[in-house]
Amino acid sequence: MYLWLLFCVSALQYAVAAQNVTGIDGWLRYARIPNADSLRGQVPGHIVALNDSETSPVFTAGQELMSGMAGILGANADVSYSMSEKGSYRNATGTLIVGSMDQFEGASIDMGEEPELIEDGYHIAFSGSDVHIIGSNQRGALYGAFKLLAWLAQGRLPQDSYTSNPDAPIRWGNQWDNLQDGGNHGSVERGYAGDSIFFKDGGVREDLSRVPLYARLLASVGINALVVNNVNANESMVEPRIVEGLGRIADLMRPYGVRLGMSLNFATPELLGVLDTFDPFDESVIQFWQDRTDLIYSHIPDMAGYLVKANSEGQPGPLTYNRTLADGANLFARRVQPYGGVVMFRGFVYDSTSLNQTEDWRADRANAAVEFFDGLDGSFEDNVVVQIKYGPIDFQVREPASPLFAHLQNTATAIELQVTQEYLGQQCHVFYYADLWKSVLDWDMRYEEKPSLVRDIIAGRRFNQSLGGYAAVINVGLNQTWLGSHLAMSNLYLYGRMSWDPTVSGEDVIQDWTRMTFNHNPDVIQTIKEISMESWPTYENYSGNLGIQTLADITGSHYGPDPASQDGNPWGQWTRADTFSIGMDRTVFNGTGFAGQYPAIVRNKYDNISTTPDDLLLWFHHVNYTYPLKESDETVIQHFYNAHYAGAANAQTYAPRWEALKGKMNQQQYEEQLYRLIYQGGHSIVWRDTINQFYYNLSSIPDEQNRGGCGGDFPYRIEAESMELDGYNVTIAEPWNTASSGRLIAASSNDTATATATVPDSLLTSNSSTYDVAVNYFDVAIGIAHWTLYLNDRMIGEWKGDMEYRLGHAPAVAINGDSNTRITFHDVKVRSGDVLKIVGEPEREDVAAVDYISIFPPGVVD
Ligand code: GCU
Repeated sequence: MYLWLLFCVSALQYAVAAQNVTGIDGWLRYARIPNADSLRGQVPGHIVALNDSETSPVFTAGQELMSGMAGILGANADVSYSMSEKGSYRNATGTLIVGSMDQFEGASIDMGEEPELIEDGYHIAFSGSDVHIIGSNQRGALYGAFKLLAWLAQGRLPQDSYTSNPDAPIRWGNQWDNLQDGGNHGSVERGYAGDSIFFKDGGVREDLSRVPLYARLLASVGINALVVNNVNANESMVEPRIVEGLGRIADLMRPYGVRLGMSLNFATPELLGVLDTFDPFDESVIQFWQDRTDLIYSHIPDMAGYLVKANSEGQPGPLTYNRTLADGANLFARRVQPYGGVVMFRGFVYDSTSLNQTEDWRADRANAAVEFFDGLDGSFEDNVVVQIKYGPIDFQVREPASPLFAHLQNTATAIELQVTQEYLGQQCHVFYYADLWKSVLDWDMRYEEKPSLVRDIIAGRRFNQSLGGYAAVINVGLNQTWLGSHLAMSNLYLYGRMSWDPTVSGEDVIQDWTRMTFNHNPDVIQTIKEISMESWPTYENYSGNLGIQTLADITGSHYGPDPASQDGNPWGQWTRADTFSIGMDRTVFNGTGFAGQYPAIVRNKYDNISTTPDDLLLWFHHVNYTYPLKESDETVIQHFYNAHYAGAANAQTYAPRWEALKGKMNQQQYEEQLYRLIYQGGHSIVWRDTINQFYYNLSSIPDEQNRGGCGGDFPYRIEAESMELDGYNVTIAEPWNTASSGRLIAASSNDTATATATVPDSLLTSNSSTYDVAVNYFDVAIGIAHWTLYLNDRMIGEWKGDMEYRLGHAPAVAINGDSNTRITFHDVKVRSGDVLKIVGEPEREDVAAVDYISIFPPGVVD
């Protein structure tokens, strides 16, 4: 009997351990920790949450503490909601009381020395077996509860009292969810993880079950408001039927202290057909917005405020009526002011139609924000916050901090970061933001020659603002992992941690996150930390170097490599690359003058090429490809080649390093992430070769090491176009450099096509008896092609072109750098004279295209 029981218990444990981890709980899995037994006795057996209203964050805190302690420690704490009930739990050891300061006072609980708290801050005090979590407000109390649970989930319970206050009051998320977007209602702009959790079919979803789960994640890291719709806003957002739905969303977020915000379309009165103007000075327009604002607050009394993108990228704004941007912002600010709302007014304002690349050397989109806001400082209402993208262009792999941060001393500002990875691998490449964000937050503007860190400016410290802070474009979707990939979620966690405390260490954060999201295995923690910390330099290496921009396709997907799209595009995102030289001359004396938008010390540093750090060289200067770098022995062009080879080589190590974790983490997390890391390894080679081929072709300067794509041959490749073809045609990629040597094969009809080649002796020079065989092919989104690879009629493997269902990046609609990808077969016995055959079965647009086959000894990066 005893043995049977033992068997049942261990079977149960096994079942729990083997349960799938879909990612839906993010870092709030409350999984049992290794030292649960020793910690369990240290936590109180009874919880008192000082609010019994289910909509209050304090009530939520009680629930979270109970379930968290049960999950993490196996502790069995009860919750009650008033001190009088506490009596019935006298037998429990210790009490954990959670509530706001007011509630502690109301219940006459001795708080000891009164903690110094600002809005949303909290204090955790330990006294004997009792714990007090005291919030400055109810939201703060919930944050304190999450802090305590985070400690426990890390396997520790400090006994010293702990006080924490946020660095800035604004810590918002922005979702770019589309209420209506052409035919695709409920999509998410620059979202790579499925449809909106909020909208469907042009309205608010009936099923909003994902909303509280999301709000819970946000609250656990201190994010206190969420704008739920795209900055390119639809006018219907203020229609009564939508406002009613927004009220339902707000109700679901309120228990987590996450307030709802919304983006507005400036031309709403006209677009809805209510008025024939949207002039912010027009009385009927003012009245329109007053009525709609009143309506919104009648449904959502704690609405956080509005987010407004005006006069940018085709969006309407006040300039149409010769009113200033401040007039436009104030129109809304005055409406929400009595309700305590704020207006986040975007600094991302530019008009690329006024820029001419060929005729005007001084044309520069990077100048736009400062120019548009010129003269407006101080004319915004107090509840306006200018929300400024971290860099002057647009979420590029490396940018200097936007100079606009130094131009608004009498206006509150917030930095706009992105958690989603537009331009940066769209969650299919690992990109952990810690160091990139720090490069901007720690940027010192030296305003009036005094320390003026961006993080001090936005927190209001530098220029004495009471508002300001952080916004991040997050763009979660219905995907079970929220962002499309398990590892990408570390950025949402990081955003919360860094907006609460921008001095936090990126390494600490990723380790904390890993323990909670995966487990405490030291190998798991170490590997995830290392890959994450390497991820920015690695991606930068194989994308755009030296501050040139990301070099992703700028006119379409913003995903795969397309260096040619960097010039001549209508968006004003240029590199001015020609056959001799490259880079934007942003100097004052000879260029666009952008460097002059910074205060003098910073301006002088970047205006002068000899004091400009290499990593921003091409952001500020136009130089010959042969220009020598300061921090290495390379020329610009040689650095491009070297960096691309180094970056792609490092990306090859990710998957094997992950494979070493097999069995050390949950199988679902392991497999889903491995799939992406293998994909990234292949796609990094596509990036490398595309960019090297492009700049070699443009500059005609060969690589010193004579490597493939930049002057030399690819030593391990059989180009598909050189194979014997039956049913395949040779064709050219668009742009050409996204295919190896520019050419590829694609099925010429809907029928099966075949390509064969004899393996030449020259490819098999190593002593190895087995080889890796990689096939680079194009997986185009519409249709699912099928490929089979044979060696001497023995099947090596087969695969489908179904990545559009497995990866969430922007649809790869053509044969280009978005669709070029790779599959690798390991340990294949290959001998000279063997016959390789690829059989492709096309479907619709997916024409079973093949770029090349590469045969290389294990461990080599081809
Ligand atoms: C980028 C992005 C757009 C977005 C815009 C913005 O340009 O590609 O999708 O609308 O930024 O931030 O407003």
